[in-house]
Amino acid sequence: MDDTATHPSNRTDTLPRGGGGTRSDNLRPAPAAHLRPAPADHPIHPLIASRWSPRAIDPRPVEPELICRLFEAARWAPSSFNEQPWVFLVASRRESPEWHERLAGFLKEGNAWARSAPLLIASAFRTTLSRNGKPNTQARRDLGAAEENLCLQAWASGLVTHQMGGFDQERLARELFPDSPDADLEPGTMIAIGYPGDPAALPDDLREREGRPRKRKTLDAFVFGERWGAPAPFLPVSEDG
Ligand SMILES: Cc1cc2nc3c(=O)[nH]c(=O)nc-3n(C[C@H](O)[C@H](O)[C@H](O)COP(=O)(O)O)c2cc1C
Repeated sequence: MDDTATHPSNRTDTLPRGGGGTRSDNLRPAPAAHLRPAPADHPIHPLIASRWSPRAIDPRPVEPELICRLFEAARWAPSSFNEQPWVFLVASRRESPEWHERLAGFLKEGNAWARSAPLLIASAFRTTLSRNGKPNTQARRDLGAAEENLCLQAWASGLVTHQMGGFDQERLARELFPDSPDADLEPGTMIAIGYPGDPAALPDDLREREGRPRKRKTLDAFVFGERWGAPAPFLPVSEDG
């Protein structure tokens, strides 16, 4: 029997809802043009399989209640010593158009498409442990965990997200970090967020990229047993060897 099909956590109609949520908080499927489910080799949760990073994002504003939900999801990510070293600068175009424009100004040319997103985030992380002032060697990965929580919650709420390392990190740190009470910040990513947009509105090259098959390395390329490079024994033997 296929446990994954019957396990409650795999039924999208039973995805947990936030505190005080209503029935409409359940997983909202993306429009057809935005469906590019991962061709997974092993069954995985539909939320993980369906999330991807579109560039077509609708300029329509995101409701504050939904924005809060994203950061609530980030908040509950695990972190080393429960330090929660993440910090997010958020720009919503509807509320603060000039701030949105300023944050968008840090994007590299190749990410210019992200300017249309109604919500832009610049993430950062504290590099010292608040408990003893020593370096927090896990802080960047803790931020990554928080961002993944945020991205999955966004997708479950009918929003799309696109993380970006392509921004002027040095200038952003120089111009924005001095105003922070934390002297130990390092830049993380920028994230474009909004409702799914129309891929037809993208330039040809980007529209073509949106339609490409989603690909990942196979498990035997990165899951090893005793020896580096030798697939772990529980992995099925691949057809080509
Ligand atoms: C830390 C990080 C940085 C990224 N930087 C960029 C970027 O600058 N521009 C871009 O278009 N996509 C960027 N991406 C998106 C990745 O290209 C994308 O996640 C990857 O190709 C897998 O595709 P998927 O998210 O649709 O599954 C970034 C993703 C991550 C996690």
